[in-house]
Amino acid sequence: MTFQQQILEGIPAVLPQPQVYDTAINHAPKRKEILSAEEKKLALRNALRYFEPEHHEVLVKEFAHELDTYGRIYMYRLRPDYKMYARPIEEYPGKSQQAKAIMLMIQNNLDYAVAQHPHELITYGGNGAVFQNWAQYRLTMKYLAEMTDEQTLIMYSGHPMGLFPSHTEAPRVVVTNGMVIPNYSKPDDWEKFNALGVSQYGQMTAGSYMYIGPQGIVHGTTITVLNGGRKIAKNREGIEGKLFVTSGLGGMSGAQPKAGNIAGCITVCAEVNPKAVHTRHSQGWVDEVITDLDALVARVALAKACKEVVSIAYQGNVVDVWEKFDTENIYIDLGSDQTSLHNPWAGGYYPVGLSLEESNKLMADDPAVFKDMVHASLRRQANAINKHTAKGTYFFDYGNAFLLEASRAGADVMAANGIDFKYPSYVQDIMGPMCFDYGFGPFRWVCASGKPEDLAATDAIAATVLQEMAKTAPVEIRQQMEDNIKWIQGAQQNKLVVGSQARILYADAEGRINIARAFNQAIAEGKIGTIVLGRDHHDVSGTDSPYRETSNIYDGSRFTADMAIQNVIGDSFRGATWVSIHNGGGVGWGEVINGGFGMVLDGTPQASKRLESMLFWDVNNGIARRSWARNEEAVFAIKRAMESQPLLKVTLPNMVSDALLDL
Ligand SMILES: NC(=O)c1ccc[n+]([C@@H]2O[C@H](COP(=O)([O-])OP(=O)(O)OC[C@H]3O[C@@H](n4cnc5c(N)ncnc54)[C@H](O)[C@@H]3O)[C@@H](O)[C@H]2O)c1
Repeated sequence: MTFQQQILEGIPAVLPQPQVYDTAINHAPKRKEILSAEEKKLALRNALRYFEPEHHEVLVKEFAHELDTYGRIYMYRLRPDYKMYARPIEEYPGKSQQAKAIMLMIQNNLDYAVAQHPHELITYGGNGAVFQNWAQYRLTMKYLAEMTDEQTLIMYSGHPMGLFPSHTEAPRVVVTNGMVIPNYSKPDDWEKFNALGVSQYGQMTAGSYMYIGPQGIVHGTTITVLNGGRKIAKNREGIEGKLFVTSGLGGMSGAQPKAGNIAGCITVCAEVNPKAVHTRHSQGWVDEVITDLDALVARVALAKACKEVVSIAYQGNVVDVWEKFDTENIYIDLGSDQTSLHNPWAGGYYPVGLSLEESNKLMADDPAVFKDMVHASLRRQANAINKHTAKGTYFFDYGNAFLLEASRAGADVMAANGIDFKYPSYVQDIMGPMCFDYGFGPFRWVCASGKPEDLAATDAIAATVLQEMAKTAPVEIRQQMEDNIKWIQGAQQNKLVVGSQARILYADAEGRINIARAFNQAIAEGKIGTIVLGRDHHDVSGTDSPYRETSNIYDGSRFTADMAIQNVIGDSFRGATWVSIHNGGGVGWGEVINGGFGMVLDGTPQASKRLESMLFWDVNNGIARRSWARNEEAVFAIKRAMESQPLLKVTLPNMVSDALLDL
């Protein structure tokens, strides 16, 4: 059967043969036992509703086995045998060009080179799911292949509810992930609803089909390290010879060594999982691998002495690195952490003193003891970090809930007021005031032709647009413009593509619109093929997350989620091809609401109208909110936006003098 026939087949009438569990693949850890005997029956009943009754007898045993062995029903048997990757758009069957583009984006999220646990349909972050099971994947692809531009596909946490009549200007797909009633949004609620097959954790770009491999994050991380370096510079000196210590070589964290290299420092990144170390090393994302702490100390000392630009993976626990560098007096300039602490009990964080295998076993066999070990490890890690910061290290939380979980573990990370943390988040100090408040965020695009030449052409177009804009850019945003021009000019050389022909580029509203407009024009002129635009949810307006994206909102509204909800609603009627809104993502289930979009550019005047309207809203919604929160940079940016677009009228805050409040 051809690829196209298999897509159109959906859930096959004759069941495929059972599949062998491939141990060479990086699999999701076994999820903890959460369901009662009755709930297990419900999970099975839920899974079987995708299949004709004649198959139930065979499948019920198989699914019960999966639930017992892995804690979830993935329906491994239904995993297709064709290669999973973003094909050129014309290879997809279908009636809607927009729907075909979405199929391409879905397959990219499940590509073995891209996805963290491809057989469990997890793209990144340990639990960032595209679908809950393979039946959902098959059914969704079939719907996309059948739909017209007068229908909209409705996705409930990976489950395709179906095609509903709509109209050509409506989104082709509307995605919700993990939307539960707020009082049922504790981590164990996720475990339970996910095991029942009724909800999933979509992370940010996993369940929204917008992941572009670690490149997406390399750019943001480079900007963070560069600006972090600027923050600690005493005499405007560069970052050369300075040491950045962090952890994680997974989906997003794996970008850190590469970003360190691009920024120009020495990076030490600890990672406990040898498979993750191997993947990033073989992809050239980290230069060297060291497994011995003494050897690591010697290597770092040499790199410092020679002011080398080098990235080193330490295969082991990050807590050991922090402690060893303290006793050996290795000075750390910049420090952070990117273990997956948004998911601390199910494989996101490996406690010091246990091997990877021991941890994986303990978290399933005895979750309570495992939790205690995670807490103890976090306390040790925080203690060691505190010793370094006392010597002058600048430590920042990388939005992975490190400080949140460390505080819950009773670690010494609280500020004197007992409310704030003693260290800033990277958004509070760096990304918020320097980028988001001005509208700069992780804009991205994918060349649906799959041609590297198209990507090169779009890079050149984007560079020209930005250079033109930089000539008249106000001084407040010039540094960002320069960083981004440098990034896009070096993008080809840095070989950032893993999976689809994609590019990330931080840009503000004006930059995003100008670049998109130029792309649409180039498509109309036949210079390049179809382009998919998007962004990370981790952006100016997309995400309400009190300890991360909105951690630099100080008017008390950082625990509200109006902005993210408004964002997807607004995007959906201004021309997005698909929209998505998620509970969870980055910092954990119940801790964040985030939304995003995808938009297909096909060179038509309609696409041009959509991009102007939607991209303007998509960025300025967040700037307006940030400005209302009295963030000066955002007040500046929204005033500029109002000058450029007379139809924009935003409520501006009046500042109150501190003295007046000294009652
Ligand atoms: N990169 C960014 O810009 C960014 C932004 C916001 C949030 N984050 C957060 O960073 C975290 C990491 O994301 P990811 O996609 O890389 O997740 P991931 O699960 O793919 O990778 C995390 C890695 O950390 C390793 N690890 C866990 N405990 C460890 C320990 N004690 N010592 C050494 N290694 C350990 C794991 O083996 C894993 O490979 C997530 O919580 C994510 O939300 C990243």
